[in-house]
Formats: sequence, C-alpha cells, structure tokens
Amino acid sequence: MSAAASKGFFQAYDDVWLIDGLRTPMADYCGAYSHISPTDLGIKAARAVLRRSGVPAADIDSVISGSMAPGDCYQYMLARHIGLYAGVPLTVPALNVQRICGTGFELFRQAGDQIALGYADTVLVVGTESMTRNPIAAFGHRGGFKLGAQVGFEDFLWEALTDPAPGITMPQTAENLARQYGITRAEVDKYAALSHARALDARNAGFHAGETVAVANEVFTLDGYADRRILLSGALTELAQDTHPRISPPSVLATLRPLYPHGVQTGGNSCALADGAAAAIVSSGAYAMAGGHRPQARIVAAAVVGVPPEVMGIGPAPAIRLLLDRCGLGVPQIGLFEINEAQGAQVIAVERELKLDRDRLNIHGGAIALGHPLAATGVRLTITLARALDLRRQRYGVAAACIGGGQGIALLLENPRWRQLQNDGA
Ligand SMILES: CC(C)(COP(=O)(O)OP(=O)(O)OC[C@H]1O[C@@H](n2cnc3c(N)ncnc32)[C@H](O)[C@@H]1OP(=O)(O)O)[C@@H](O)C(=O)NCCC(=O)NCCS
Repeated sequence: MSAAASKGFFQAYDDVWLIDGLRTPMADYCGAYSHISPTDLGIKAARAVLRRSGVPAADIDSVISGSMAPGDCYQYMLARHIGLYAGVPLTVPALNVQRICGTGFELFRQAGDQIALGYADTVLVVGTESMTRNPIAAFGHRGGFKLGAQVGFEDFLWEALTDPAPGITMPQTAENLARQYGITRAEVDKYAALSHARALDARNAGFHAGETVAVANEVFTLDGYADRRILLSGALTELAQDTHPRISPPSVLATLRPLYPHGVQTGGNSCALADGAAAAIVSSGAYAMAGGHRPQARIVAAAVVGVPPEVMGIGPAPAIRLLLDRCGLGVPQIGLFEINEAQGAQVIAVERELKLDRDRLNIHGGAIALGHPLAATGVRLTITLARALDLRRQRYGVAAACIGGGQGIALLLENPRWRQLQNDGA
C-alpha cells in the first residue's frame, strides 16, 4: 500500500489555543484504578485542569469528552457527568466523541471547529479510558435463554483488539508493517527500551510531574445530586506517577515470547494496557487574552485520513503528510513529534516512512512505557507536545496516532513563545 493519502479531512484554525492540560498518572491494567469508572477519572482530570489554569468552570461553553469502552452502564452520559461534576454550568451542552485510538485528538478537532464556527469561546475536552473495566458482555440474549443454550459472553477488550474485516489483531497489523518495512525484533526491542528509558528520565527530571495530577481517594459532590467517588484499589490512598515504566534493557526484552510465531511484537514492545484520563482547556484568542491566560500552544491544524485496516498502524504517516502539505511545511521544520506507540514495529514503520529523526520523536517516552488508555492518549500526547516544545525552544510540533480499523490523525501545534525562547537561548 502507499502511505500517501488521496482523501481525508484537513482543517486549519486561525485562532484556537490550548490554554492548559493535565492528566492522571497512567495505571497498569487491573491495577490502581480497577474500581474507578472512566467518568470519575475524567472528572478528576477536568477539575484539576480548571483549577490549575485559573479558567472558571462558569466560563466553559462546551464540554467534549470521549471514552471507547463502557466502564460502567452510564457511558451515554459520560461528557454530561464530567461537565456537571467539574462544575460547568447546568446549561452548557456536552458531547461524547469516539475515534478509537484517535479520540483524544478528535476532541481537539471538535473543539477547534466549535470555536472557529463561533459556537463556543471556551471548551473543556476530556479523554478518559479504563481498559480494566472493559465489560465481559453478552449481546444476543434479549429474547431470553433456552434451557441448555450456550450463553455467549464475550470479552470486550480481547475482542476489540481484533479487526474482523481483515480478521487479524492489532499486533498482527504491526507484524504486517514489520514485514513490509523489514523491521526486526531487535530493532523493535531497542525502540521499546528507549521508550522506557526516556519515560524514566522524564520522570526523574520532573517533566511528567508538570502535566500530572495525583489521584487520591476522593468524593465529588454536586449540590442536589448524588455523590460520586474515587476509590483506589487495595490499601492505596494516592497514586502520583505512572506505574508501567521500568528499566527495560533490550537484553531483557529479547527474552520475552513473541505474540505470534516468528513475529517481532511481544508484551514488552507493545503499548501497555493502562487506565487514565487527560483534560485540556481550548479557547479562542479573545477569551485567552481577556482572561490574561498564557496559552501553551496554538492549535494550527488537524488532519485525519483512512488507510487499509491490515496496516492500520501506518495511519500517522499519510495524516502527517496531508497536515504538513496543506500547511506548507515539511518534516525538517517540525521540531518535535509525538506519535502514539501502539506497537513498536508500527511506530518504527511511521518513522521510516516519514524519515523522522528519532531524537525528535517521543522524547519523553511513549505508550510502550506509559500505557495507552485509548481515548486519553491523544490528549496526553497533545499536552506533552505543547510543554516539550517550550522546553526545547521549538516552534512547531506534530502529535499523531494510528487508529484501529485503519485511520490516522494528526495535529499541528505552534509554540506561541518560540521567537522569544529562541532569542533568549541565542
Ligand atoms: C501485547 C499484549 C497482548 C500483552 O498483554 P499481556 O500478555 O497481558 O502483557 P503483560 O503485561 O502480562 O506482559 C507479558 C509478559 O511480558 C513481561 N513484560 C512486559 N513488559 C516488560 C518489560 N518492559 N520488561 C520486562 N518484562 C516485561 C511481563 O512481565 C509479562 O511477563 P510474565 O508473562 O512472565 O508475567 C497487550 O499488552 C496488548 O494487546 N497490547 C497492545 C494493545 C493495543 O494494540 N492497543 C490498541 C492499539 S491499536
């Protein structure tokens, strides 16, 4: 297949700004957040970003939230409940959005559209996911059970990692890319080791702390309505950092069993299954200026494209090409890339296709180390990128993800302080 997109969506925004963003620590599957619904993780992140940004909840005009798997029976009201319990006025509408692993980016696209079209000045976006609380579901029993009939429970998490159209799993789509791009197991393990090492370095340097709010046992109250709560697993009373990153030299990763015979993907070089939420405030320039806010980034443009389902992981390549072509930019002008690490071979294939410099890619670690709570990931990548651009005194950054089923999505950010930072550093 060609990684060039013939069709796709592209939007440029003149005046859409990322004011601030925060996330919860990402917790391993069946770990600290096992009993917490994605709604409550989302409320936690939303309250935290409102508090830190200084944007009054009363100023929010629109709530947009996404979560792929239903973590409880009330997913229909996800965005509504996040908005209400974050303190947003009762009269403000709320929208649920899903674009699988691209959901977090889609939230920014939707917010950008709402602001550009004049529907809203200030939007609260929240991506949240509990991989742990994926249901074990039975779909076909509305008509009742005949005595002795097979009861067809299915594991939502396991089944959703397969795309029934090509009849293969997500890691198998990465195996297809490994074959196509000649990527070896040793190269994938080397990449995964780097993701863990960078995540640990970023933690030790305090980078992750700057975008993370600790999660503690807590009750969310809302006058006249039922309390909601966060209850961490076991005796834990607070989680302050991501649980998955660990020292992972290639020599250790090399000992792990491949997921498929002769394949390159293992449990160590695929994204970790994790739970978490990330929230951000997006506004017009007029709102930011009037409130004296210092936006972290300008959201310049977004692109989303389709690719063949059997190589879904290549999606970021044509999405980034479309994004940059339409913005009149090229890869050399992009200071930093954040591309979701669904699988090691997948991100290496994108890197090769676009001829990316690894020193500018996922420099604070990626989902192999941190985990990939599907709908939260795009928000995490965007807020990480905005902060990293500042740290590295860069002007432009691109954040992107592949999407199961065969799509790619990408956002272009501009650092509003790039000129001043470069002058200061000169
Ligand atoms: C790949 C996958 C199936 C592995 O699931 P799993 O088998 O439950 O994974 P585990 O975390 O138990 O890891 C498997 C083994 O590798 C080990 N391991 C994982 N990461 C490691 C590391 N960094 N260093 C050392 N060992 C590691 C684990 O300890 C475990 O060892 P054990 O079997 O002795 O207990 C799962 O993570 C997955 O599906 N990931 C991709 C998700 C995905 O595709 N998302 C959507 C993108 S489109």
